[in-house]
Amino acid sequence: MASDLESCRYVPVTSSSAILGDARHLGGLIEPASIDAVITSPPYPNEKDYSRTTRLEAVLLGFMSTQKDLKQHKQQFVRSNTRTVYKTDTDDRWAADFPRVQQLADTIEQRRIELGKTSGFERLYSRVVRLYFGGMARHLEALKPFLRPGAQLAYVVGDQASYFRVMIRTGEILAEIAETLGYTVLGIDLFRTRFSTATKENLREEVVLLRWDGER
Ligand SMILES: C[S@@+](CC[C@H](N)C(=O)[O-])C[C@H]1O[C@@H](n2cnc3c(N)ncnc32)[C@H](O)[C@@H]1O
Repeated sequence: MASDLESCRYVPVTSSSAILGDARHLGGLIEPASIDAVITSPPYPNEKDYSRTTRLEAVLLGFMSTQKDLKQHKQQFVRSNTRTVYKTDTDDRWAADFPRVQQLADTIEQRRIELGKTSGFERLYSRVVRLYFGGMARHLEALKPFLRPGAQLAYVVGDQASYFRVMIRTGEILAEIAETLGYTVLGIDLFRTRFSTATKENLREEVVLLRWDGER
C-alpha cells in the first residue's frame, strides 16, 4: 500500500471522498440524481467473510473494538456467506419475485438433502443464495434515485460453485435482476476465468454493464 501511494504522489488528483455506509440504504449519504458512473466489485456468494480481510485494519484504525461493533459492521454487508447470516435478515423477500433465484436455491437445498448433509452451515446455503440476490436487488433499487439518467454501471462478479458444486451464474442472474428493475443491460464482459478444483471447470469472472435511463 505504501508503495502504491508513493507511485500516486505526483499524479494530479481530483477531489474524492470516502463514505462509510451500506449500499442498500443510500438516503442521506449521497445527493439525489448525482451519480454518473458506478464501478464496483460487490460481494458474491463465495463463502468469504469480507470482515476477515480487513479486520486488523478496522481495529487498528479504531472503527471497531468489541464483538458488538463487529456484528454491527457485518450487518451492513450484503449477505454472501453462512458466517454472516442473522435470524432477523429479510433480504430474501427481495428475491421472491425472481424464479431463477428460487430455482437455484431449491436445487442447492435438494442437493444437500440427497447428500445427507446436515451441519448448520450447510443448511444455510440455500438461504444465503436468496439473501444474496435479494440484497443485490435491494441495492439496485435503492440506487435508482441517486443516478443521473444515462448513468453507466459496472459490477465485477464471479460465478461460484461453493455450495455442493451447484453452479451459480452470478453475472447472468444479476443482469436479469437489473433488467427487471428497469436498468438496460449493455452486456456481460468476461474479465478472467478461475479454475475450480471442486468442479474442474473454469469459473467466469465477469463485468456486468448496465445503464440507467430514468424511470420509464
Ligand atoms: C469482492 S469485495 C471487493 C473488495 C474491493 N475491491 C477492495 O479491493 O477492497 C466486496 C466488498 O463489498 C463490501 N460490502 C459488502 N456489503 C456491502 C454493503 N452493503 N455496502 C457496501 N459495501 C459492502 C465488503 O466489505 C467487501 O469489501
